[in-house]
Amino acid sequence: MADLAVEGRATVEGRDGEGFEPEVVGFLCNWCSYAGADLAGTSRLAYPTNLRVIRVMCSGRVDPETMIEPFLHGADAVMVLGCHPGDCHYLSGNYQAEQRVRTIWMVLDHLGIDRERLYLDWVSAAEGARFADMVSEFVARVRTLGPAGGGPASREGLSRGEFAFRAEVARRVAGGERFRWLVGRNKALSEEGNVYGEKVSPHKAAALMQSVIADECVRAAIEVLAGEAPVSVRDIASRLGISAQLVLEQAAYLKRRGLIELYDVSGRSPRYVRAGARA
Ligand code: FES
Repeated sequence: MADLAVEGRATVEGRDGEGFEPEVVGFLCNWCSYAGADLAGTSRLAYPTNLRVIRVMCSGRVDPETMIEPFLHGADAVMVLGCHPGDCHYLSGNYQAEQRVRTIWMVLDHLGIDRERLYLDWVSAAEGARFADMVSEFVARVRTLGPAGGGPASREGLSRGEFAFRAEVARRVAGGERFRWLVGRNKALSEEGNVYGEKVSPHKAAALMQSVIADECVRAAIEVLAGEAPVSVRDIASRLGISAQLVLEQAAYLKRRGLIELYDVSGRSPRYVRAGARA
């Protein structure tokens, strides 16, 4: 995909404190939101210049990984704007975008990244003023969240390196098969039921989703850590703040899938590395 690196930050020193100018990447659907942004421009409506617009044919064309990718290139927040419900030119693209964003929010919650950094809303071609107001309000909101990875100056309190690590984990989770399954099952579990047609209570469906997301985050984190150099189960457990037993279970799963391999045993803790890294 195209490099979404955001260049030329307004106040580099301000990244970690005062004078922080958020970098916001916005995916705008061609038929409504982009036209709304265009109308704001031709109507000379003022709104913050912090937004970098990427025009897409439909909000439903923005895949989950792409929604997270800007965070890996320095963005502090992401907007996904589409046509109002019922107005999508491809019928259901905006509903798909909504399902994806709702599921990504759960992943971000699990990883300790503030879900407010990913924003979803609808703007029609006639709503130039609404677009300008929306961007102004969102940029003001991101200012209160602070820089992504800004340490104590950010809502999450994460260092830049830790934020990048968690964003990479989120990107991998969002790009996985099980995430796509989650997006599809999010509402269906409670509204249509499981494969046996049994309806699952919203509480149970949410618990199941949380459990799958937790597993996927651990697996993705192991893959990221083992991709850099051999890493021990003990060190992974300590980095993720979970038990060594849980890491072992997920590492065994990844090993069976041929994604990581046993490197050696250090002390009494196995060390794993990305499959093929030793070749
Ligand atoms: Fe605008 Fe689908 S065409 S959201």
